[in-house]
Amino acid sequence: MTIVPPAVAQSRTALPLAARATGPYIYDDDGNDYLDGSSGVLNVNIGHSHPAVLRAVEQQLGQLTFVHRSQFRNQQALDLTSRLLSIVPGAAAVEYTNSGSEANECALRLAFAYQHRRGAARRTVILSEQPSYHGMTAAALSITGSPGKRDPSVEPLLGPRAERVLVRPKPGRRRATHEEWATALLAAGPSKVAAVVVEPLGGASSGASPIDAETMQWLRRETRNHGIVLIADEVMSGFGRTGKWWACDHSNIAPDILTSGKGLTGGYTSLAVTVVAESIATAIGEPLGPIALGHTMSANPLACAAANAVLDVLEGEELLGNAATAGRHLADALTTLCDRFPGLVSDQSGIGLMRALHIDPGRPADTNKRILAAARANGLVLCAAGIDGTTQSVLVAPPLNSTPDVIDDLAARLGRTLTAIAESPA
Ligand SMILES: Cc1ncc(COP(=O)(O)O)c(C=O)c1O
Repeated sequence: MTIVPPAVAQSRTALPLAARATGPYIYDDDGNDYLDGSSGVLNVNIGHSHPAVLRAVEQQLGQLTFVHRSQFRNQQALDLTSRLLSIVPGAAAVEYTNSGSEANECALRLAFAYQHRRGAARRTVILSEQPSYHGMTAAALSITGSPGKRDPSVEPLLGPRAERVLVRPKPGRRRATHEEWATALLAAGPSKVAAVVVEPLGGASSGASPIDAETMQWLRRETRNHGIVLIADEVMSGFGRTGKWWACDHSNIAPDILTSGKGLTGGYTSLAVTVVAESIATAIGEPLGPIALGHTMSANPLACAAANAVLDVLEGEELLGNAATAGRHLADALTTLCDRFPGLVSDQSGIGLMRALHIDPGRPADTNKRILAAARANGLVLCAAGIDGTTQSVLVAPPLNSTPDVIDDLAARLGRTLTAIAESPA
């Protein structure tokens, strides 16, 4: 028998029991509705129970659910690969995993393999940022700039061989500038650096805070000049969430390796991708498979069928355009809420439909968690972001097919939530 500590048991039973979901709404077993204001954890990008995906998955279930990639090719994976190669600038190869963490783990392995193959095995430094979130597997966690995610007990598993340097913005800023990156790069020694990993639009750690385009372009230029692999982590920001396929597109740069997941399957199945530029793939040589991170279920036909159906919906319903339009509507609504609740929410940020409300730094460090609980009581699902009291925020990111009515409903529920927090003592 498993003994569940009372605190854990209480927090689990405090959550509603989800019964069904359709479009942007989830219903619990008592029939209460919740507007999915964060698209799950920014993955349910086309809403719940989309008929086109249900049809595609059902058909694939009856036709072919699994073959291993070492034994057969499958048409769904082949189709998905060619679609990904056409939407990621400069891409030449795709590796499949089951989660965003694994996609980043795979990207780091490929970056190190690339350096090794070209005789630069001495490059063992990885630069990333704090705040950042790159996942829970060992290498991905080791470059994550979010101290709360690193329990001391797992430190020995994070590997002593590669050196990680966390580039930190000045207090009061959420993202590092190119001057701060330049200082870190110089201190590490550019010829020792294997890879730079960035979230072009920060998610769970910095709350929909973009790197400015100038810094992103500086990173692209300098990494290329110094033979460093630039990895863009678009696990959260990819697949149209920002109104373009990739957050990198807003800075007009193409990374050497792009990772993504979440919106790829819209939450219908598990699948993530590591998309590799020609120069890296060629230097490593085919096949990448033995170096990349392959799992039993990687690129299985069912998951790929769901991803192909989600891409059909994104393209057929022109949801990148809608993400941009609805994103402006949402940004206006969030700005209005900042004006209505000064001293509680200080500003809003984001691109397209990946946005966040930032908590006033004068507020207690758990204010974003209190907002989440109050939102739930007001029929709204949100995600918390931030790594400490000064970076705390709530992510507001409804599905990309949200209509103006849905955005208005979200703003109304959020308004009631903030009223409840403003009126109750901390
Ligand atoms: C930017 C980023 N990278 C990596 C991950 C890890 O993805 P997963 O939870 O699918 O392992 C996440 C998850 O939130 C993320 O936001």
